[in-house]
Amino acid sequence: MGARELDGALVDARRRTLTLFEALAAAGYGQPASVPRLPILNPPLWELGHTIWFAEWFVLRAARSSRPGDAVGDSLLAQGDAWFDSNLVAHASRWMLDLPAPEALVRYGGEVLDRMRARLAQETDDDASLYPYRLALAHEDMHGEAMLYTLQTLGAAPPPGMAEAPLRHGDRSGIDFGAAAFLPGGDQSQGFVFDNERIPSTRPTGPFTIDAALVSNGDYLPFVEDGGYRQPRFWSEAGRAWLQETGRLAPRYWERDGAGWRVRRFGQSLALEPAEPLRHVCLHEAEAYCTWAGRRLPREDEWERAASAGHPDFDWGQLWEWTASRFLPYAGFQPDRYLEYSAPWFVTRQVLRGASFATPARLRSPHFRNFYTPQRDDIFAGFRTCAL
Ligand SMILES: [Fe+2]
Repeated sequence: MGARELDGALVDARRRTLTLFEALAAAGYGQPASVPRLPILNPPLWELGHTIWFAEWFVLRAARSSRPGDAVGDSLLAQGDAWFDSNLVAHASRWMLDLPAPEALVRYGGEVLDRMRARLAQETDDDASLYPYRLALAHEDMHGEAMLYTLQTLGAAPPPGMAEAPLRHGDRSGIDFGAAAFLPGGDQSQGFVFDNERIPSTRPTGPFTIDAALVSNGDYLPFVEDGGYRQPRFWSEAGRAWLQETGRLAPRYWERDGAGWRVRRFGQSLALEPAEPLRHVCLHEAEAYCTWAGRRLPREDEWERAASAGHPDFDWGQLWEWTASRFLPYAGFQPDRYLEYSAPWFVTRQVLRGASFATPARLRSPHFRNFYTPQRDDIFAGFRTCAL
Protein backbone atom coordinates (compact mmCIF):
# COMPACT_ATOMS: atom_id res chain seq x y z
CA MET A 1 0.00 0.00 0.00
CA GLY A 2 1.52 3.29 -1.09
CA ALA A 3 0.98 6.71 0.50
CA ARG A 4 -2.20 7.48 -1.42
CA GLU A 5 -3.98 4.20 -0.57
CA LEU A 6 -2.69 4.46 2.97
CA ASP A 7 -4.35 7.82 3.38
CA GLY A 8 -7.73 6.38 2.40
CA ALA A 9 -7.19 3.31 4.58
CA LEU A 10 -6.38 5.41 7.66
CA VAL A 11 -9.60 7.37 7.16
CA ASP A 12 -11.55 4.15 6.68
CA ALA A 13 -10.06 2.49 9.76
CA ARG A 14 -10.94 5.49 11.93
CA ARG A 15 -14.49 5.60 10.59
CA ARG A 16 -14.78 1.92 11.46
CA THR A 17 -13.42 2.43 15.00
CA LEU A 18 -15.85 5.27 15.67
CA THR A 19 -18.79 3.33 14.23
CA LEU A 20 -17.96 0.34 16.43
CA PHE A 21 -17.56 2.55 19.49
CA GLU A 22 -20.95 4.13 18.80
CA ALA A 23 -22.56 0.68 18.56
CA LEU A 24 -21.01 -0.32 21.89
CA ALA A 25 -22.08 2.98 23.47
CA ALA A 26 -25.62 2.58 22.10
CA ALA A 27 -25.77 -0.84 23.78
CA GLY A 28 -24.88 0.77 27.11
CA TYR A 29 -21.14 0.10 27.16
CA GLY A 30 -19.86 3.62 26.53
CA GLN A 31 -18.53 4.09 30.05
CA PRO A 32 -16.03 1.65 31.60
CA ALA A 33 -18.11 1.27 34.76
CA SER A 34 -20.87 -0.45 32.76
CA VAL A 35 -18.52 -2.97 31.08
CA PRO A 36 -17.96 -6.37 32.74
CA ARG A 37 -14.39 -6.70 34.00
CA LEU A 38 -13.36 -9.63 31.87
CA PRO A 39 -9.78 -10.43 30.90
CA ILE A 40 -10.94 -10.91 27.28
CA LEU A 41 -12.33 -7.35 26.97
CA ASN A 42 -11.14 -3.77 27.10
CA PRO A 43 -13.52 -0.98 28.08
CA PRO A 44 -14.48 0.41 24.64
CA LEU A 45 -13.80 4.00 25.72
CA TRP A 46 -10.26 3.00 26.68
CA GLU A 47 -9.83 1.05 23.44
CA LEU A 48 -10.92 4.11 21.43
CA GLY A 49 -8.44 6.41 23.18
CA HIS A 50 -5.65 3.84 23.08
CA THR A 51 -6.00 3.35 19.31
CA ILE A 52 -5.72 7.09 18.66
CA TRP A 53 -2.85 7.46 21.12
CA PHE A 54 -0.91 4.61 19.51
CA ALA A 55 -1.10 6.27 16.07
CA GLU A 56 -0.02 9.57 17.57
CA TRP A 57 2.89 7.87 19.37
CA PHE A 58 4.37 6.16 16.31
CA VAL A 59 3.47 8.64 13.57
CA LEU A 60 3.22 12.16 14.98
CA ARG A 61 5.65 11.61 17.84
CA ALA A 62 7.99 9.52 15.65
CA ALA A 63 8.66 7.01 18.42
CA ARG A 64 11.84 4.94 18.17
CA SER A 65 10.05 2.18 20.04
CA SER A 66 7.06 1.51 22.29
CA ARG A 67 9.20 1.96 25.39
CA PRO A 68 7.91 4.84 27.56
CA GLY A 69 10.07 7.89 26.86
CA ASP A 70 11.02 6.80 23.34
CA ALA A 71 8.70 9.28 21.61
CA VAL A 72 9.23 12.94 20.72
CA GLY A 73 7.26 15.56 22.63
CA ASP A 74 3.96 15.25 24.46
CA SER A 75 0.60 13.83 23.51
CA LEU A 76 -1.99 16.31 22.23
CA LEU A 77 -4.10 14.92 25.07
CA ALA A 78 -2.85 16.23 28.40
CA GLN A 79 -2.70 12.85 30.16
CA GLY A 80 -2.54 10.72 27.02
CA ASP A 81 0.52 8.69 28.02
CA ALA A 82 -0.78 8.01 31.53
CA TRP A 83 -4.17 6.87 30.25
CA PHE A 84 -3.51 5.03 27.03
CA ASP A 85 -0.02 3.53 26.98
CA SER A 86 -0.72 -0.20 27.33
CA ASN A 87 2.76 -0.59 28.85
CA LEU A 88 1.86 1.74 31.69
CA VAL A 89 -1.80 0.87 32.21
CA ALA A 90 -2.27 -2.71 33.38
CA HIS A 91 -5.37 -4.39 31.98
CA ALA A 92 -7.39 -4.43 35.20
CA SER A 93 -6.73 -0.74 35.86
CA ARG A 94 -8.28 0.32 32.52
CA TRP A 95 -11.63 0.28 34.33
CA MET A 96 -10.44 2.64 37.04
CA LEU A 97 -9.15 5.63 35.06
CA ASP A 98 -10.88 8.99 35.06
CA LEU A 99 -11.07 9.06 31.26
CA PRO A 100 -12.21 12.01 29.11
CA ALA A 101 -15.75 12.07 27.73
CA PRO A 102 -16.24 10.28 24.38
CA GLU A 103 -16.67 13.65 22.60
CA ALA A 104 -13.24 14.78 23.82
CA LEU A 105 -11.63 11.56 22.55
CA VAL A 106 -13.38 11.91 19.20
CA ARG A 107 -11.96 15.46 18.93
CA TYR A 108 -8.49 14.17 19.88
CA GLY A 109 -8.84 11.47 17.22
CA GLY A 110 -9.84 14.04 14.58
CA GLU A 111 -6.82 16.19 15.41
CA VAL A 112 -4.41 13.24 15.28
CA LEU A 113 -5.85 11.97 12.01
CA ASP A 114 -5.73 15.41 10.35
CA ARG A 115 -2.09 15.86 11.33
CA MET A 116 -1.19 12.33 10.23
CA ARG A 117 -2.72 12.89 6.82
CA ALA A 118 -0.95 16.23 6.41
CA ARG A 119 2.35 14.60 7.32
CA LEU A 120 1.70 11.60 5.07
CA ALA A 121 1.14 13.94 2.11
CA GLN A 122 4.74 15.16 2.57
CA GLU A 123 6.34 11.70 2.88
CA THR A 124 8.35 10.02 0.19
CA ASP A 125 6.64 6.84 -0.93
CA ASP A 126 9.09 4.28 0.47
CA ASP A 127 8.82 1.48 3.04
CA ALA A 128 10.90 3.18 5.73
CA SER A 129 8.86 6.40 5.60
CA LEU A 130 5.53 4.61 5.51
CA TYR A 131 6.33 2.05 8.24
CA PRO A 132 4.77 4.00 11.17
CA TYR A 133 1.58 4.68 9.22
CA ARG A 134 1.24 1.03 8.22
CA LEU A 135 1.87 -0.04 11.81
CA ALA A 136 -0.76 2.37 13.14
CA LEU A 137 -3.23 1.17 10.51
CA ALA A 138 -2.70 -2.54 11.31
CA HIS A 139 -3.03 -1.80 15.02
CA GLU A 140 -6.29 0.08 14.53
CA ASP A 141 -7.68 -2.68 12.29
CA MET A 142 -6.86 -5.31 14.94
CA HIS A 143 -8.58 -3.26 17.63
CA GLY A 144 -11.55 -2.87 15.28
CA GLU A 145 -11.88 -6.63 15.09
CA ALA A 146 -11.57 -6.81 18.89
CA MET A 147 -14.42 -4.31 19.23
CA LEU A 148 -16.54 -6.50 16.98
CA TYR A 149 -15.94 -9.62 19.07
CA THR A 150 -16.59 -7.48 22.17
CA LEU A 151 -20.07 -6.87 20.71
CA GLN A 152 -20.51 -10.64 20.36
CA THR A 153 -19.28 -11.25 23.93
CA LEU A 154 -21.65 -8.63 25.32
CA GLY A 155 -24.57 -9.79 23.19
CA ALA A 156 -24.96 -6.46 21.41
CA ALA A 157 -25.83 -5.72 17.78
CA PRO A 158 -23.02 -4.82 15.36
CA PRO A 159 -23.28 -1.66 13.25
CA PRO A 160 -25.19 -2.08 9.97
CA GLY A 161 -23.04 -3.72 7.33
CA MET A 162 -20.50 -5.05 9.81
CA ALA A 163 -22.21 -8.30 10.68
CA GLU A 164 -20.95 -11.26 8.75
CA ALA A 165 -22.39 -12.10 5.38
CA PRO A 166 -23.84 -15.63 5.30
CA LEU A 167 -20.83 -17.88 5.51
CA ARG A 168 -20.02 -20.23 2.66
CA HIS A 169 -20.24 -23.94 2.96
CA GLY A 170 -17.05 -25.29 1.53
CA ASP A 171 -16.29 -28.73 0.19
CA ARG A 172 -14.14 -30.45 2.76
CA SER A 173 -12.40 -32.82 0.38
CA GLY A 174 -8.66 -33.06 0.96
CA ILE A 175 -5.92 -31.33 -1.00
CA ASP A 176 -2.61 -33.21 -1.24
CA PHE A 177 0.80 -31.61 -0.88
CA GLY A 178 4.05 -33.43 -1.48
CA ALA A 179 7.27 -33.05 0.50
CA ALA A 180 9.00 -29.73 -0.22
CA ALA A 181 11.14 -27.05 1.35
CA PHE A 182 8.84 -24.12 2.09
CA LEU A 183 9.76 -20.56 3.04
CA PRO A 184 7.05 -19.02 5.23
CA GLY A 185 6.59 -15.25 5.23
CA GLY A 186 6.46 -14.72 1.49
CA ASP A 187 8.36 -11.97 -0.32
CA GLN A 188 9.72 -9.77 2.45
CA SER A 189 11.82 -7.53 0.23
CA GLN A 190 9.19 -4.78 0.20
CA GLY A 191 6.04 -3.64 1.94
CA PHE A 192 5.16 -4.12 5.59
CA VAL A 193 6.29 -7.22 7.46
CA PHE A 194 5.50 -8.04 11.09
CA ASP A 195 8.52 -8.93 13.21
CA ASN A 196 7.20 -12.42 13.95
CA GLU A 197 6.90 -13.24 10.20
CA ARG A 198 10.60 -12.75 9.37
CA ILE A 199 12.30 -16.05 8.82
CA PRO A 200 15.80 -16.65 7.49
CA SER A 201 15.48 -20.11 5.96
CA THR A 202 13.11 -22.65 4.50
CA ARG A 203 11.60 -25.48 6.49
CA PRO A 204 10.67 -28.93 5.27
CA THR A 205 6.93 -29.56 4.97
CA GLY A 206 4.81 -32.38 3.70
CA PRO A 207 3.64 -34.66 2.55
CA PHE A 208 0.23 -33.79 4.00
CA THR A 209 -3.44 -33.77 3.05
CA ILE A 210 -5.41 -30.76 4.25
CA ASP A 211 -9.15 -30.10 4.10
CA ALA A 212 -10.20 -27.55 1.50
CA ALA A 213 -12.71 -26.03 3.95
CA LEU A 214 -13.39 -25.56 7.64
CA VAL A 215 -15.20 -28.02 9.88
CA SER A 216 -18.90 -27.09 9.77
CA ASN A 217 -21.55 -27.07 12.49
CA GLY A 218 -22.96 -30.20 10.85
CA ASP A 219 -19.59 -31.94 11.02
CA TYR A 220 -19.20 -31.06 14.69
CA LEU A 221 -22.76 -31.90 15.76
CA PRO A 222 -22.27 -35.71 15.99
CA PHE A 223 -19.28 -35.17 18.28
CA VAL A 224 -21.50 -33.12 20.61
CA GLU A 225 -24.47 -35.51 20.31
CA ASP A 226 -22.24 -38.52 20.99
CA GLY A 227 -21.38 -36.94 24.35
CA GLY A 228 -17.90 -35.98 23.19
CA TYR A 229 -17.65 -33.35 25.93
CA ARG A 230 -18.22 -36.04 28.60
CA GLN A 231 -15.53 -38.41 27.37
CA PRO A 232 -12.10 -37.53 28.78
CA ARG A 233 -10.28 -39.78 26.31
CA PHE A 234 -10.83 -37.28 23.50
CA TRP A 235 -9.39 -34.36 25.48
CA SER A 236 -5.85 -33.29 26.27
CA GLU A 237 -4.89 -32.75 29.89
CA ALA A 238 -5.31 -28.99 29.47
CA GLY A 239 -8.61 -29.66 27.68
CA ARG A 240 -9.90 -31.75 30.59
CA ALA A 241 -8.98 -28.98 33.03
CA TRP A 242 -10.82 -26.51 30.79
CA LEU A 243 -13.92 -28.76 30.72
CA GLN A 244 -13.89 -28.97 34.50
CA GLU A 245 -13.54 -25.26 34.87
CA THR A 246 -16.21 -24.26 32.34
CA GLY A 247 -18.63 -27.19 32.63
CA ARG A 248 -19.08 -26.95 28.86
CA LEU A 249 -21.10 -29.67 27.09
CA ALA A 250 -21.24 -27.94 23.69
CA PRO A 251 -19.63 -24.86 22.09
CA ARG A 252 -19.99 -21.65 24.04
CA TYR A 253 -22.89 -20.16 22.07
CA TRP A 254 -24.86 -23.33 21.33
CA GLU A 255 -28.21 -23.70 23.10
CA ARG A 256 -30.38 -26.81 23.12
CA ASP A 257 -33.80 -26.33 21.59
CA GLY A 258 -35.83 -29.52 22.01
CA ALA A 259 -34.18 -32.06 19.77
CA GLY A 260 -32.17 -29.41 17.91
CA TRP A 261 -29.82 -26.56 18.59
CA ARG A 262 -29.76 -22.80 18.35
CA VAL A 263 -26.81 -20.40 18.51
CA ARG A 264 -26.46 -16.95 20.09
CA ARG A 265 -25.03 -14.45 17.65
CA PHE A 266 -24.64 -10.80 18.65
CA GLY A 267 -27.35 -11.28 21.25
CA GLN A 268 -29.84 -12.99 18.94
CA SER A 269 -30.88 -16.63 19.05
CA LEU A 270 -30.68 -18.23 15.60
CA ALA A 271 -31.27 -21.74 14.32
CA LEU A 272 -27.98 -23.62 14.06
CA GLU A 273 -27.06 -23.73 10.39
CA PRO A 274 -25.40 -27.11 9.71
CA ALA A 275 -23.62 -25.92 6.56
CA GLU A 276 -21.88 -22.94 8.19
CA PRO A 277 -18.32 -23.21 9.48
CA LEU A 278 -18.22 -23.97 13.19
CA ARG A 279 -17.08 -20.96 15.21
CA HIS A 280 -16.47 -19.79 18.76
CA VAL A 281 -14.58 -22.91 19.76
CA CYS A 282 -11.31 -22.94 21.67
CA LEU A 283 -8.17 -24.90 20.85
CA HIS A 284 -9.14 -27.67 23.28
CA GLU A 285 -12.41 -28.27 21.45
CA ALA A 286 -10.65 -28.29 18.07
CA GLU A 287 -8.14 -30.86 19.33
CA ALA A 288 -10.79 -33.05 20.97
CA TYR A 289 -12.86 -33.10 17.77
CA CYS A 290 -9.77 -34.13 15.80
CA THR A 291 -9.08 -37.00 18.19
CA TRP A 292 -12.71 -38.15 17.96
CA ALA A 293 -12.70 -37.88 14.15
CA GLY A 294 -9.28 -39.50 13.63
CA ARG A 295 -7.85 -36.30 12.19
CA ARG A 296 -5.32 -33.68 13.27
CA LEU A 297 -4.94 -29.89 13.14
CA PRO A 298 -2.61 -28.47 10.48
CA ARG A 299 0.71 -27.04 11.57
CA GLU A 300 1.03 -23.34 10.78
CA ASP A 301 3.62 -23.90 8.05
CA GLU A 302 1.40 -26.50 6.40
CA TRP A 303 -1.51 -24.07 6.51
CA GLU A 304 0.61 -21.26 5.08
CA ARG A 305 1.95 -23.43 2.31
CA ALA A 306 -1.58 -24.52 1.37
CA ALA A 307 -2.89 -20.92 1.43
CA SER A 308 0.13 -19.57 -0.47
CA ALA A 309 -0.19 -22.19 -3.21
CA GLY A 310 -3.30 -20.44 -4.50
CA HIS A 311 -5.18 -23.71 -4.92
CA PRO A 312 -8.63 -22.71 -6.21
CA ASP A 313 -10.42 -25.03 -3.76
CA PHE A 314 -8.55 -23.95 -0.62
CA ASP A 315 -11.13 -21.73 1.05
CA TRP A 316 -9.95 -19.35 3.77
CA GLY A 317 -10.76 -15.95 5.22
CA GLN A 318 -14.19 -16.45 6.79
CA LEU A 319 -12.83 -17.39 10.20
CA TRP A 320 -9.52 -17.58 12.02
CA GLU A 321 -8.30 -21.16 12.25
CA TRP A 322 -6.62 -22.83 15.18
CA THR A 323 -3.41 -24.61 14.21
CA ALA A 324 -1.32 -27.27 15.96
CA SER A 325 1.51 -24.75 16.40
CA ARG A 326 2.47 -22.94 19.56
CA PHE A 327 3.33 -19.30 18.93
CA LEU A 328 7.13 -19.39 18.87
CA PRO A 329 9.75 -17.04 17.44
CA TYR A 330 11.26 -17.99 14.11
CA ALA A 331 15.06 -18.34 14.19
CA GLY A 332 16.81 -14.98 14.48
CA PHE A 333 13.72 -13.16 15.79
CA GLN A 334 14.26 -9.46 16.50
CA PRO A 335 11.43 -7.29 17.83
CA ASP A 336 10.46 -4.28 15.73
CA ARG A 337 9.79 -0.90 17.29
CA TYR A 338 6.43 -2.04 18.72
CA LEU A 339 8.38 -4.16 21.18
CA GLU A 340 5.38 -5.91 22.75
CA TYR A 341 3.69 -6.94 19.52
CA SER A 342 5.06 -10.49 19.63
CA ALA A 343 7.78 -11.11 22.19
CA PRO A 344 5.71 -11.21 25.41
CA TRP A 345 3.28 -13.75 23.93
CA PHE A 346 5.60 -16.48 22.70
CA VAL A 347 5.02 -19.98 24.15
CA THR A 348 1.80 -19.15 26.02
CA ARG A 349 -0.21 -18.46 22.85
CA GLN A 350 -1.30 -20.73 20.02
CA VAL A 351 -1.11 -19.69 16.38
CA LEU A 352 -4.26 -19.06 14.39
CA ARG A 353 -4.05 -18.53 10.65
CA GLY A 354 -6.42 -17.02 8.12
CA ALA A 355 -8.74 -14.08 8.76
CA SER A 356 -12.34 -13.60 9.85
CA PHE A 357 -15.23 -11.69 8.30
CA ALA A 358 -14.21 -8.92 10.74
CA THR A 359 -10.68 -8.63 9.31
CA PRO A 360 -10.33 -5.84 6.72
CA ALA A 361 -8.99 -6.99 3.35
CA ARG A 362 -5.87 -4.86 3.81
CA LEU A 363 -4.80 -6.97 6.83
CA ARG A 364 -5.38 -10.36 5.23
CA SER A 365 -2.35 -12.40 4.28
CA PRO A 366 -1.46 -16.10 4.11
CA HIS A 367 1.62 -15.17 6.16
CA PHE A 368 -0.17 -13.43 9.04
CA ARG A 369 0.40 -15.14 12.39
CA ASN A 370 -2.41 -14.45 14.82
CA PHE A 371 -2.12 -15.78 18.35
CA TYR A 372 -4.39 -16.28 21.35
CA THR A 373 -4.40 -18.33 24.53
CA PRO A 374 -5.82 -21.84 23.95
CA GLN A 375 -9.03 -21.31 25.92
CA ARG A 376 -10.24 -18.30 23.89
CA ASP A 377 -13.64 -19.10 22.38
CA ASP A 378 -14.91 -15.54 22.18
CA ILE A 379 -12.94 -14.73 19.01
CA PHE A 380 -14.19 -15.52 15.51
CA ALA A 381 -12.33 -18.81 15.25
CA GLY A 382 -12.93 -22.31 13.94
CA PHE A 383 -10.59 -24.86 12.43
CA ARG A 384 -9.92 -27.29 9.58
CA THR A 385 -8.27 -30.69 9.78
CA CYS A 386 -5.56 -32.73 8.12
CA ALA A 387 -5.43 -36.47 7.49
CA LEU A 388 -3.34 -38.35 10.06
FE1 LIG B 1 -3.16 -1.97 21.22
